[in-house]
Amino acid sequence: MNQREMSSVREEGKDRIIFVTKEDHEAPSSAELVEEDPNDPYEERGLILPSGEINWNCPCLGGMASGPCGTEFKEAFSCFHYSKEEVKGSECLEQFRAMQECMQRYPELYPQEDDEKPPQGQSSETDQTSQDSESAEMSVRAEQGSCAGMLGMSSLKDICSGLPLDPLPPNRGRDPSVPHAPTRTPDLTSEEERLALRNALRYFPPSHHATLAPEFAQELRQHGHIYMYRFCPTLRMRAYPIDQYPCRTRQAASIMLMIMNNLDPAVAQFPQELVTYGGNGQVFSNWAQFRLVMHYLSEMTEEQTLVMYSGHPMGLFPSLPSSPRAIITNGMVIPNYSSRDQYEKMFALGVSMYGQMTAGSYCYIGPQGIVHGTMLTVLNAGRRYLGSSDLRGRVLVTSGLGGMSGAQAKAAVIAGCIGVIAEVDEAPLRKRHEQGWLMEVTSSIEHCIKCIREAKRSKSPLSLGYHGNVVDLWERLLLEFERTGELLVDLGSDQTSLHNPFNGGYYPVQLSFRQANQLMSTDPNRFRTLVQESLRRQVKAINKLSEAGMFFWDYGNAFLLEAQRAGAEVEKVGGGATEFRYPSYVQHIMGDIFSLGFGPFRWVCTSGNPQDLTVTDDIAASVLEEICADVSDLIRQQYNDNIRWIKEAGKHKMVVGSQARILYSDQKGRISIALAINQAIADGRVSAPVVISRDHHDVSGTDSPFRETSNVYDGSAFCADMAVQNFVGDAFRGATWVSLHNGGGVGWGEVINGGFGLLLDGSDEAAKRASTMLNWDVSNGVARRCWSGNSNAYETIQRTMEENRQLRVTMPFPVQDERVLDRALQG
Ligand SMILES: NC(=O)c1ccc[n+]([C@@H]2O[C@H](COP(=O)([O-])OP(=O)(O)OC[C@H]3O[C@@H](n4cnc5c(N)ncnc54)[C@H](O)[C@@H]3O)[C@@H](O)[C@H]2O)c1
Repeated sequence: MNQREMSSVREEGKDRIIFVTKEDHEAPSSAELVEEDPNDPYEERGLILPSGEINWNCPCLGGMASGPCGTEFKEAFSCFHYSKEEVKGSECLEQFRAMQECMQRYPELYPQEDDEKPPQGQSSETDQTSQDSESAEMSVRAEQGSCAGMLGMSSLKDICSGLPLDPLPPNRGRDPSVPHAPTRTPDLTSEEERLALRNALRYFPPSHHATLAPEFAQELRQHGHIYMYRFCPTLRMRAYPIDQYPCRTRQAASIMLMIMNNLDPAVAQFPQELVTYGGNGQVFSNWAQFRLVMHYLSEMTEEQTLVMYSGHPMGLFPSLPSSPRAIITNGMVIPNYSSRDQYEKMFALGVSMYGQMTAGSYCYIGPQGIVHGTMLTVLNAGRRYLGSSDLRGRVLVTSGLGGMSGAQAKAAVIAGCIGVIAEVDEAPLRKRHEQGWLMEVTSSIEHCIKCIREAKRSKSPLSLGYHGNVVDLWERLLLEFERTGELLVDLGSDQTSLHNPFNGGYYPVQLSFRQANQLMSTDPNRFRTLVQESLRRQVKAINKLSEAGMFFWDYGNAFLLEAQRAGAEVEKVGGGATEFRYPSYVQHIMGDIFSLGFGPFRWVCTSGNPQDLTVTDDIAASVLEEICADVSDLIRQQYNDNIRWIKEAGKHKMVVGSQARILYSDQKGRISIALAINQAIADGRVSAPVVISRDHHDVSGTDSPFRETSNVYDGSAFCADMAVQNFVGDAFRGATWVSLHNGGGVGWGEVINGGFGLLLDGSDEAAKRASTMLNWDVSNGVARRCWSGNSNAYETIQRTMEENRQLRVTMPFPVQDERVLDRALQG
């Protein structure tokens, strides 16, 4: 073999020449990577490994250790880290220079901050030394715990210091390494475009308008929205521990922590578009709002309240120490103007936004939030439809591996069955696989069918991600049935984002993922037609498989509602306005849990320490066990399922983002857990305050006629008094922040939902707030459900009144003799 055929490295003067043969270049690398801990790598290992070595996998390095300049980066960083010089890192200038030179060769991957620097003298050779020492200084900051500094990233202090205006930060545009939201299609007139631009510029002094206006106009035309990418911080977004936020009150710091979690790229669906989940669940509308909010929160006292109008911080207004520190409303519009088209425009104008449920209320806890509910749903579906809790060898087919839907894979395995989940977008599929939530992935439908058969035979739990359109999967399952008579699916559902069907929530089967994304913005009408056709095909296959013995349910994503609008055969003969051919999971599968006061209670340990989470898990388990000894048969099953869940939750390593936990509990359980955790903080068993919250998908917080309130039959299913009352009532009973949203779950205009966050800091005051507020937060909805005629709610609220003499609820007298009505209405 002659020498030129081998890969080699040689030094020539100051140059290092790397020669790689075509074969070597094409062959997969055999380099050993440090094994990833899919569950929580950075919290547990950090930048420096216990061995003292640098952890090149630490996400705090922002991926710099890999990529085209990874080697140079590692050399510079190591040199600095191990430097013993008096001026630390002073011998590393060469390495830093090499790193910088490399980065300059890839400006798209490593945007140069200096591009936008004020004219401190033209960049020249003479500036090199100072740039190098700047790099070294950054590294010092890295050593001090903020490795973000090393990467030119900002710190928490920086992002809390308000809008950076002098100088403006460089416009780095969109980060190609993270997924981005589809182009929005607001269809603005030229006058509306001007208005959108004028609205965006309101955040900045006129001296910057000439610079920012063309940039914002381009964002509006290119992406259908002004996100203000320039102001997206370079700091790694994540739920830093509560002590690290500059603040005057820890209540505000807890809100900052929750905001940071909602924007963590490991958590958020489209982090740079400020979307946490569900395709359009915004935390804010643009990055200027994020910066202002962080600034306000860092400065607020306990006599101020931050007022949030659909992402826009109206400001800090004087209030009482007992008041919430933030009041958030998202998407509140005059009811007659709550159509989807109007939403698109209002969002583009920057005056309204879709906060989903826990995105715009800063209470998202990653897909774990829904794993638990999904696991219970799958278990209950098995009990109800298949007559057994033993789901081994049973197959669940569904779609979506996004923000919420991603939980389906994990839940299926915990429930012991075979979960097959179709996902058109490779990015979430890969993310769930890397996180360990999906056991296997395939883009071959043949292989998929083969895996289902094998798993059915071996009865081994499996979560299989099918990279493709769910309609193809349904049609293929039908074909298999028609060919062989073998029904390969027992349970079926869907969790595409059909609350947002024409803007990236649902991908039609006729197009590839890329083609769909293009058509969505170039020809929205054609796209809409294809979505509807695709939905009809999907329902057709589901109908036939259901006739053959499969059980299908609507999973709260407006699947049946949109299918009906598309003309698919989902009608329930003789059904009411909110009923379809298939049941909604809320009442049919979960059971009438909301009427019993059960709902998704959650908490977040603000220390960021997994040990605190373990302690709180143990506390919750013993609290539930104690209560369970004394509960009625009606709710014992709920308690038992939740005790089993909480005891195993740690083992399943579901934390993505903040150290959070969820379980379903009734009023008594929620209050008892909150008080026990508060006591543990007071005793020092839990090292820092804990935020308690819940999903909005709950007993009182949400009026949603196609989901949470779909079993309200007194004609009030389309009324929203309960959700509004809940929000107001939580606010003056002790919540640290409250929120009220239009949309969420089933879509804009279809639901009003609200929620809260409450900081437990171990004080008596926190205990009082938690117990008063949680009392209301559950009883409100139970009382309403009781009034609507629900017998479970009747019993529940009556029992609650017996336990709390201050609670007095107007109880209904049901009509016992229908003939009274018949006679009265005759003639
Ligand atoms: N059941 C519940 O308790 C509950 C809770 C929260 C949200 N939801 C609803 O569930 C839906 C999903 O929420 P999410 O946060 O996961 O949304 P998401 O947008 O993050 O994920 C949906 C996923 O479906 C994929 N998809 C779309 N069309 C597809 C197709 N035809 N075939 C295969 N994959 C397709 C998308 O690529 C996306 O990744 C939303 O409508 C949401 O409002 C339900």
